[in-house]
Amino acid sequence: MGTLDGKIALVTGAGSGIGRTSAETLAGEGAYVLCVDVGEDGAKATARDVGGTAVAGDVGDPDTWRAVVAAGAAHGGIDVAHLNAGVYGHTGDVLDLPDDVYQRVIGANIGGVILGTRAVVASMRERGGGAIVVTASMAGVVPFPPNPLYTASKHAVVGWVRAMAPVLAGDHITVNAVCPGVVDTPMTVGAAGGLDPAQLPFPLIPPSAIAAAVLGLATGADTGVCLAIWPDRDPVPWDFRGPEQLFV
Ligand SMILES: NC(=O)c1ccc[n+]([C@@H]2O[C@H](COP(=O)([O-])OP(=O)(O)OC[C@H]3O[C@@H](n4cnc5c(N)ncnc54)[C@H](O)[C@@H]3O)[C@@H](O)[C@H]2O)c1
Repeated sequence: MGTLDGKIALVTGAGSGIGRTSAETLAGEGAYVLCVDVGEDGAKATARDVGGTAVAGDVGDPDTWRAVVAAGAAHGGIDVAHLNAGVYGHTGDVLDLPDDVYQRVIGANIGGVILGTRAVVASMRERGGGAIVVTASMAGVVPFPPNPLYTASKHAVVGWVRAMAPVLAGDHITVNAVCPGVVDTPMTVGAAGGLDPAQLPFPLIPPSAIAAAVLGLATGADTGVCLAIWPDRDPVPWDFRGPEQLFV
């Protein structure tokens, strides 16, 4: 018996990294998983491995969400949404920020969460409740000066989670976020300029630790929680005191 037997889940960014591991974890608990990714091959590979359905599309595009809702409806609806897809975007001089990179970061990191929430609430209401878990970042609760655009996008979704939680509580829909430090995924390889992440001077968090936290939030009663996750410590709810919370 799994904790998600009979439930329908969706995971965005399911083709790689945290999303792929989350899809495996939710499926391992019995959920039927819709695997959403802008990369069709990745979405299909994960869907095949977890026995779910692939939906290829950009989470910043409302049409993708119409396709996700239709795919969910074919299986009875949507109970759990892990809104995880994201991109790292631009570092360096703000004058060199390309238009398309700006649009991609806003579309994936913010649009994917806002449009995703809008898309799943009707089904969750019909089914008597549900759980939304957003992958934010530590850059959603503290400033990350190497990448202010990423920081802004992740702060935005932390605000969304905290404001939406009381709004949806009456519908028995929980809304929470995971806020990881640096995770061992292809995004980190890219952000490190192609360096081997194992050579970084700090430990990386395994994607399985994020997926376990997502499962805990998706199956628990808490709402409005932004769970800070960093290496070698238990996840803790971030209480918005500021960066000093990292060091206590
Ligand atoms: N890697 C880290 O250190 C780290 C830390 C904190 C938060 N995060 C966040 O975790 C999430 C997952 O990152 P990851 O490290 O697994 O990265 P990843 O690059 O391994 O995977 C991201 C997946 O999202 C997909 N994707 C990107 N833009 C998309 C879009 N517009 N529509 C649909 N799919 C899209 C990609 O194709 C990819 O499969 C992101 O939101 C990221 O910001 C990552």
